[in-house]
Amino acid sequence: MGSEKNWNFDKIIDRSNTGSMKWEPGVLRRQFGQGRENLLPLWVADMDFLSPLVVRQAMEERLAHQIYGYTIMDQKFSEALILWYKRRHQWEIDPDWILTTPGVVPATNYLIQRFSMPGDKVLIQTPVYYPFARSIVNNGRLVLENPLKISEGRYQMDFDDLAKKVADPRVKLAILCSPHNPVGRVWTKEELERFGKICMENNVLVFADEIHCDLIMPGFKHICFQDICDEFAQNSITANAASKTFNLAGLHQSSLIIPNEKLRNEFSIYFETLGVDPRGNGTTFGAIATTAAYNGAEPWLDDLILYLWDNFIYLKITLEEQLPGVKVFDLEGTYLAWVDFNPLGLSPEKIIQIIEEEAGVALDHGNWFADNGAGFERFNIACPRSILEKAVKAVTAGFKKYL
Ligand SMILES: Cc1ncc(COP(=O)(O)O)c(C=O)c1O
Repeated sequence: MGSEKNWNFDKIIDRSNTGSMKWEPGVLRRQFGQGRENLLPLWVADMDFLSPLVVRQAMEERLAHQIYGYTIMDQKFSEALILWYKRRHQWEIDPDWILTTPGVVPATNYLIQRFSMPGDKVLIQTPVYYPFARSIVNNGRLVLENPLKISEGRYQMDFDDLAKKVADPRVKLAILCSPHNPVGRVWTKEELERFGKICMENNVLVFADEIHCDLIMPGFKHICFQDICDEFAQNSITANAASKTFNLAGLHQSSLIIPNEKLRNEFSIYFETLGVDPRGNGTTFGAIATTAAYNGAEPWLDDLILYLWDNFIYLKITLEEQLPGVKVFDLEGTYLAWVDFNPLGLSPEKIIQIIEEEAGVALDHGNWFADNGAGFERFNIACPRSILEKAVKAVTAGFKKYL
């Protein structure tokens, strides 16, 4: 293949008729309402870029074999994952710690079911990825919010509030979103240490959702929660996946890292009661794709991050210049930019109306993430620059009419 780049993030790929959740008119109508099926979609967190070519090549090779029988997550899969974390994050994962799951959202539900009882409380740091609250409520547990606070223009954890909240013995689980969707924070070691210590002292198990850990903007460093110290590793479960990083979400492959043998055994037994093999959960092609990406797509990812960063800078400069007062929070990780439109003095309902009706753009509305997200919008910037420009121009023009 040589060192020639075989990707082009500027290229527009037609995703129509591929069952894309992000682009499918029926899904847009369901999510945003009648008449909204043609919104320009910058919402669901997948990317409008082709996955790395090595992924397709590995899948084609496997496809050609033409026997698609029961598949286990073989040594190649765990080795690729272990080497990836060692290279990218200097974290040493023991192969025994790895269980496989068909997605981080399903895993979140499994963990809630196994490690809490109906009526227990599960803590989340709002505004946060809304399937967390949905999973808690759907399983008959109670959502306990530890709202993030904005201090000096940056989202921070509120440790005093956290300590008060987890002192309640009904709190069994705390979900850490690291890096944080939607506020884009890459938590520092000090922040994670304080968070982990407070949870540990109160016997609250930490579920660290690190699905965005490979999408780290220049100048920032992701710290793997379980790598901070053995006490944290023993009091936590980490979820990770190659799906966000390499655009593989439809292949349903993710992992849980559980260093604590007792928790791992308890969880494995629970998995058996669901009729799933704790080490064979996922899909044949999900495992192939993950392995290929971890082994061969590092240059692609390094380039992707620079592309995303340029997109972010464009978004920030344009929105803040064109719409004075609007605040685009600095993006430290993820490809999801969090924007506060409240300073424009319009109601949250009006902000949504302008974005959908005037601009014709589909964004994740802030109030989906919690009440403290009202008036905010989340832009998925993982798309060719020309699409982002079209969306940003439409949004600025939409708001200008009202200013
Ligand atoms: C924090 C977080 N967790 C989990 C997911 C989805 O995980 P999966 O597709 O593996 O269920 C997302 C997708 O946006 C996410 O942002």
